[in-house]
Amino acid sequence: MERFKVAGGARLAGEIAVCGAKNSALKLMAVALLAEGRTELRGVPRILDVELMAELLRRLGCDVRLDWEPGPEREDGPQKGSAIVIDVPAVPRTEADYDLVRRLRASICVLGPLLARQGEAKVSYPGGDAIGSRGLDMHIDGLERLGADISQEHGFLVATAKDGLTGASILLDFPSVGATENILMAAVLARGTTVIDNAAREPEIVDICSLLASMGAKIDGAGSSTLVIEGVDTLSPAPSPHQVVADRIVAGMFAVAATMTRGDVRVDGGNAAHLEIALDKLTQAGAIVVPDETGFRVSMDRRPKSVDIITLPYPGFATDLQPLFAAMNSIAEGTSMVTENLFDARFVFLQELARLGASVRTEGHHAIVRGVEKLSGAPVRATDIRAGAGLVLAGLVADGHTTVSDVRHIDRGYQGLVTQLRSLGAQIEREPDPDPYP
Ligand code: EPU
Repeated sequence: MERFKVAGGARLAGEIAVCGAKNSALKLMAVALLAEGRTELRGVPRILDVELMAELLRRLGCDVRLDWEPGPEREDGPQKGSAIVIDVPAVPRTEADYDLVRRLRASICVLGPLLARQGEAKVSYPGGDAIGSRGLDMHIDGLERLGADISQEHGFLVATAKDGLTGASILLDFPSVGATENILMAAVLARGTTVIDNAAREPEIVDICSLLASMGAKIDGAGSSTLVIEGVDTLSPAPSPHQVVADRIVAGMFAVAATMTRGDVRVDGGNAAHLEIALDKLTQAGAIVVPDETGFRVSMDRRPKSVDIITLPYPGFATDLQPLFAAMNSIAEGTSMVTENLFDARFVFLQELARLGASVRTEGHHAIVRGVEKLSGAPVRATDIRAGAGLVLAGLVADGHTTVSDVRHIDRGYQGLVTQLRSLGAQIEREPDPDPYP
């Protein structure tokens, strides 16, 4: 086990680059399953989750080549991400086991492509995770509307469509990212037209649509809440490598880090348009945000002011940035209300923040954060990826040393975080965790 040791007080300044989005890259890897042959992705983050997804695809019979060796080498990869090549066989296997699915919830997104291409899929039911209960009802309802038979047997979701899938009109109860993706990846090979209403509009969905289109899929409305998909008989691998959309959550983290440390950071490759509300909130907090042609710059010269946050599906405020803004509010001037509408257990992180001296009180899905002048370094534990990032930022402004343990969660989502923060002047290092009871 490893931990991060952070010394508070450094002002972050300089330039970093962001790589492709984890939450796009993992799904683009699943998209590759829809066509026999070779798909190349560029800008893929060197993170544990990509390695797990590669392993899952290998077990389905694909040959997957990463541009790096799994392990510590990932920390020092090119900041803009690496390449992976996926070679998909004519007949992929159709079963995804629990040992991988439980470690990588995103693996549920192989359900739609396998079902569409092979007429069957058996994917372990992922179960809940640290950020709360995470239903699959909309995935299942949507695929059933396309004609699949789905049952749950011995911990697996078993889906069949022996005569293929047929297009249908599907109205989602909620613009779920995962359900939109699974239904979309099935509908591209269904007979006839599928309409998904109240679809998710995240930039990662647009990225998936763009790879699908270059494989021959017919999709209208990417980025809007209505997707219209005209099914085709077969898809072919994209003729050229696909560049993964920049990770807006990583870009947003550096923007918050610059604001909290009263720093000055340019985020190369960060797309300000994908972070509209978050960057606007930083401006309200007192930061100066200047977008340019290829990124944006965030500078700050005073204690931030508190800002209220309400998480919502895109283009609303991203839940994955909520812990970072909660960390900022904990040292801001004034009191704020943070409302979490997507994941019921994301406030567990606030108890760790409180160990650093933050003043927080939760009432259901609202948290009242009273800004304090200073946090005080202490040992804390990363409970999930985004909580981990929030604690690292809190450590950067706390007095003395903060140790963040369970960094395997952070490694799942942030490529080379220690290296990048150090390049901006942070005092942070990765070290073995001596705790005998991790
Ligand atoms: N939901 C249901 N039923 C469903 C699907 C979703 O009740 O059939 C609920 C979930 O339980 C949750 C809410 O709807 O309360 C939102 O879920 P959604 O399906 O939109 O999210 P997801 O696909 O499970 C992805 C990202 C998350 C990100 C959310 C929201 C991946 C691998 N994960 O999850 O990212 O927070 O969208 O933007 O793409 C992270 O990276 O740390 C992370 C958790």
